[in-house]
Amino acid sequence: MKAGITSEKIIILDFGSQYTQLIARRIREAGVYSEILPHETSLKRIIEMNASGVIMSGGPESVNTKKALKFDPKLLDSNIPVLGICYGMQTMAKHFGGIVSSSDKREFGNAVLKVNKGLIFSGLSTKTKDLNVWMSHGDKVTNLPKGFKKIGSSNNSAIAAFENIKLKKYGFQFHPEVTHTNQGQKILKTFVKDICGCSGKWRPKNIVDSLIQDIKSQVGDKKVLLGISGGVDSSVVAALLSKAIGKNLECIFVDNGLLRKGEAEQVKKDLKRGLKLNINFSDSEKLFLKNLKGESDPEKKRKIIGKTFIDVFLKETKKLKNISFLAQGTIYPDVIESSGIKNGKAHIIKSHHNVGGLPSYLKLPLVEPLTSLFKDEVRKIGKELGLPDYLINRHPFPGPGLAVRTLGEIKKERLEILRAADFIFMEELNSHNLYDKVSQAFAVFLPIKSVGVVGDARRYEYVIALRAAETTDFMTANAAKLDHEFLNLLSDRIINEIPQVSRVVYDISSKPPATIEWE
Ligand code: XMP
Repeated sequence: MKAGITSEKIIILDFGSQYTQLIARRIREAGVYSEILPHETSLKRIIEMNASGVIMSGGPESVNTKKALKFDPKLLDSNIPVLGICYGMQTMAKHFGGIVSSSDKREFGNAVLKVNKGLIFSGLSTKTKDLNVWMSHGDKVTNLPKGFKKIGSSNNSAIAAFENIKLKKYGFQFHPEVTHTNQGQKILKTFVKDICGCSGKWRPKNIVDSLIQDIKSQVGDKKVLLGISGGVDSSVVAALLSKAIGKNLECIFVDNGLLRKGEAEQVKKDLKRGLKLNINFSDSEKLFLKNLKGESDPEKKRKIIGKTFIDVFLKETKKLKNISFLAQGTIYPDVIESSGIKNGKAHIIKSHHNVGGLPSYLKLPLVEPLTSLFKDEVRKIGKELGLPDYLINRHPFPGPGLAVRTLGEIKKERLEILRAADFIFMEELNSHNLYDKVSQAFAVFLPIKSVGVVGDARRYEYVIALRAAETTDFMTANAAKLDHEFLNLLSDRIINEIPQVSRVVYDISSKPPATIEWE
């Protein structure tokens, strides 16, 4: 972590739980900066980082097997407050001489916690005797370690929460970070504020100045190159860099002809005029469409686009002089999902990124100011920097653009049909205040024809599919339950206004088994 961002922090040791990221988010929501580190991180490192407290996450292994994950036992013998969640609790119990019993059966889902008096529960309403909590475990603590007090039990786990106030060590079998646990956030707040002594004043916007300062000290008076896509991450990086180094920032925007209606113009307006950036626009529609001609295999299409993008970017870069750094909009989840946390190695570049593959080609050192931030925090910083709301709240748009939404071969006229349909969909979502209620919405062009009748005339034309997904992490998603009348309105408008379309369908598949994009 870069210096100056925050003096108070909570370290989360990752034992492989699917909820580790969620713990980090919840701690930040409680106003304390948090960072995820590998489970074996040494106490020395934790002290160097000036951590106010540590949370040991859950994990899929059993503490009773050889696969039990290593940690520095000195941490639990230190004076640093530690909260163990699930596997973290079991590790703690074992360390202090308690007994953890293994079972083949996992307890998964809602459970009721009988709450006893405990310091870590002091933030709960005094009337709370039964608390609905979320459980996901096989093993459980069956004998309390010496000196620990049981402060909660459930039907399945007689010891579902314990504490040792003197040692500042706490353990929960349930998951306070999951929203299904009632008042879970209050419990985490008590840990970070009352037990770890944090003030809880951290806010994403507080770190804007230090992010700018960090860029200045990394870059000095050298020039930085940034590929911008019009998405929120690269726009926020552009705004930060522009504040930090002004004219020494050079941007490249590649119009690959696979963008939505009016998108290139909008980027010009917002970023060029609004932020006064040096943007080098590359109108490369013809080249992309030429390279894509005749190809209908989804993976090959993606590869062609990736390669063409790199070629264009490099050609544009050659026109610029004295570039010393390449900037990227990598955010914290990209770092966590890459090898960064799990084995402590330097992180790889995100594979989905729009400029994926560029850094190794350009052999330039990277400037990545957003690597410590979650998406919602990036948005808050964007707002602080004065970026327009619609840009900050934009749905994600894939690097290969409309190519993965135009099934089969890409042709200009197909893209035009898709653009027109997508525009109507977005216009109606916005005018019905639905855009911000769904996580991602778009139209898809299907290269099949079906019969329709418009007025008195028979129409034999293409099909447009509409997709609206609800998701928090884009790893799983459900189709948004859009109102039927609203869907009828969309269908009528699309078929009436676009003569090349005779039918509109709504995609109701969940992810998994489907994916969000169609290709
Ligand atoms: P899928 O289709 O895998 O999409 O369920 C999950 C999320 O990732 C986006 N996506 C991409 N983003 N380059 C990107 O920058 C890509 O190649 C790419 N493919 C999918 C997709 O829009 C959704 O938000």
